[in-house]
Amino acid sequence: FLQDEEPDSDSDRSSVSSLGSEVSGRKSHLSSALSVSERTGSLMSIYSDAGDFGRVSVQGAVEFALMYSPAEELIVMVEQCQDLAFGNARKQRTDPYVKTYLLPDKSRRSKRKTSIKKRTTNPVYVESLRYNVKKKDLIDKTLSLSVWHNDSRGRNVFLGQMEISLRSWDWRHEALTWYNLQPKHGTGEVHVWLKEARQLRKLKPQGVDSFVKCYILPDTSKKSRQKTRVVKKTQNPIFNHAMVYDGFRAGEVRDACCELTVWDHSTLSNQFLGGVRLSLGTGKSYGKKVDWMDSEAQEVDMWEKMLSNPNSWVDGELSLRPSMTPRKEHL
Ligand SMILES: *[C@@H]1O[C@H](CO)[C@@H](O)[C@H](O)[C@H]1NC(C)=O
Repeated sequence: FLQDEEPDSDSDRSSVSSLGSEVSGRKSHLSSALSVSERTGSLMSIYSDAGDFGRVSVQGAVEFALMYSPAEELIVMVEQCQDLAFGNARKQRTDPYVKTYLLPDKSRRSKRKTSIKKRTTNPVYVESLRYNVKKKDLIDKTLSLSVWHNDSRGRNVFLGQMEISLRSWDWRHEALTWYNLQPKHGTGEVHVWLKEARQLRKLKPQGVDSFVKCYILPDTSKKSRQKTRVVKKTQNPIFNHAMVYDGFRAGEVRDACCELTVWDHSTLSNQFLGGVRLSLGTGKSYGKKVDWMDSEAQEVDMWEKMLSNPNSWVDGELSLRPSMTPRKEHL
């Protein structure tokens, strides 16, 4: 999906903190425990949490041509669309425009738009969108073309898309061509909501100063690392901290592992207090043997529950492992 500046793209992120159920009246465990909630889902369905606004079934087609000009420009000649869905079903109205990106660049720099046509499901544009790019650089690029309804309610509505890998594009083919519009790829997000920890190890008489670190493996980059704030002087910290990981394609979450570790914060070195690894526990990720896909029964159980309940929170209280085999490649 394209995480762009369209007002529709991230307006539902803020709903994270208002979802999920309270943790109350749970029996306490003998060992340390961690309360977490998680959910996955495709972006399209996450939008639908806010009602059916902004969700239409994709239909219709777009006509355009691609050419590479002697002036070293990629030109996307957008001719017209046909039989688009109604962006606003109640008013039976569509104000459509076409937008392109030259992927993998999803930034504003890579965005081009046609004009907006009013009240039509068969808009005619005859506009060219241009990219200044060397021909040899096109080999690892993908043209993403999408059609949107410019909605008066402030959020634009996705009407369909089309992607063309330019690696194998035949540049002799310059004729206008019709392409059926496709739905979005089902990339989704994993949301982790860390509620609290209980009965942490008593390292200091006044209580530990704890925080939780989260990775979704195999990604160990800075982007993957997220932390809660430090909650001071208690064995029973309440974090209520939500973390969002995006860009998962269908099935990828099965190869991932959510590693949550609890630490006592200290200026010298942080002390490990316990952790969990949520995954399918298969010992493998993307076909490769890895030591961190070592989830135990209750951890596997929670990950499986989450996978089978997209777009809803799955609550759980898990015993913390007192020690964890360090990941070989990174700690
Ligand atoms: C697109 O929608 C916005 C928000 O309602 C509106 O202000 C703007 O005039 C629309 N653009 C066109 C060209 O209709």
